Amino acid sequence: MAMMTDTHRPHASKPTAHAGEPTRPRTKSLRKRGFLSEYLRAPGQVGALLPSSGRLAERMLEGLDLDRVGSVVEFGPGTGAFTGHILSRLGPNTRYFAMELNPTMASAFRQRFPHAPLHQRCVSEVTQACELEGIRPGSVDVIVSGLPFAAFPCDLQTRILRAANSALRPGGRMVTFAYHVGLLLPAGRKFARKLPEHFSQVSRSRSVLLNVPPAFVYRCVK
Ligand SMILES: C[S@@+](CC[C@H](N)C(=O)[O-])C[C@H]1O[C@@H](n2cnc3c(N)ncnc32)[C@H](O)[C@@H]1O
Repeated sequence: MAMMTDTHRPHASKPTAHAGEPTRPRTKSLRKRGFLSEYLRAPGQVGALLPSSGRLAERMLEGLDLDRVGSVVEFGPGTGAFTGHILSRLGPNTRYFAMELNPTMASAFRQRFPHAPLHQRCVSEVTQACELEGIRPGSVDVIVSGLPFAAFPCDLQTRILRAANSALRPGGRMVTFAYHVGLLLPAGRKFARKLPEHFSQVSRSRSVLLNVPPAFVYRCVK
C-alpha cells in the first residue's frame, strides 16, 4: 500500500479530549455524509457506510484501563467515532497517536481533534510511526483498531496483524470490531481464523445491537 505524506506532532503527550470537538448537529450530519461519500469512492478501504456508534465505542474500550497504560495507538480512526472516547480516558502520561490512510478522513479527523497526533499512512507502517513518536516499537500497550478487516484481501490482513503484533509489548492488547454480517464473507471468516495465529488469546464481546450494522469486538492479547 502506498505511503502517504506523514504529518505529525513528534513526542506529543496526551492530547485533550475536548480540543476542537464540535457538537453541533449540522457538523455531525456533514460528518456522516462525508463518510458515506468516502465509502462509495473507496469501499474496500472505508468498509462502512456510517461511523460507529457511541455504544460500540464504549464496548471497544471496556476493560482496557486506558488511564493506567503508557501508550495507545488508534488504527483507522476515520472521522473519530472512537477518538473522543479514547482521549477522555487517557492518563496524564499516556502517549497516543492515530494512523489514518484516507486523506478526506484524515482531514476531518484533524479538524475535529487538532491536537491529536495523526500519521497519514498505512497502519502496516506502525513501527516507523512509533519511532517518529519516540515510542519504542514492541512496547505499545494498546491498539484500538477501527479497520474494516473483512473488506481487506488476505495478504493485507496478514501484513497488518504482523505489524500490530510487533508494535505491541508482550501482554499488550488489540481490540478491533467486526460486523456480524461480515462473518458471511470469506474474508471475514478468514480474519476470524487468522487472529489466533497472531495473538496468544482471542475472545469476542457480546453483540452491540445499537450499531448500524450490529457489531461485536475481538479482544486480542499478544
Ligand atoms: C470502518 S472505518 C472506521 C472508522 C472509525 N473508526 C469508526 O469506527 O467509525 C475504517 C477506517 O480505516 C481506514 N483505513 C483503512 N485501511 C487503512 C490502512 N491500511 N491504514 C490506515 N487506515 C486505514 C479507512 O480509511 C477508514 O477511515
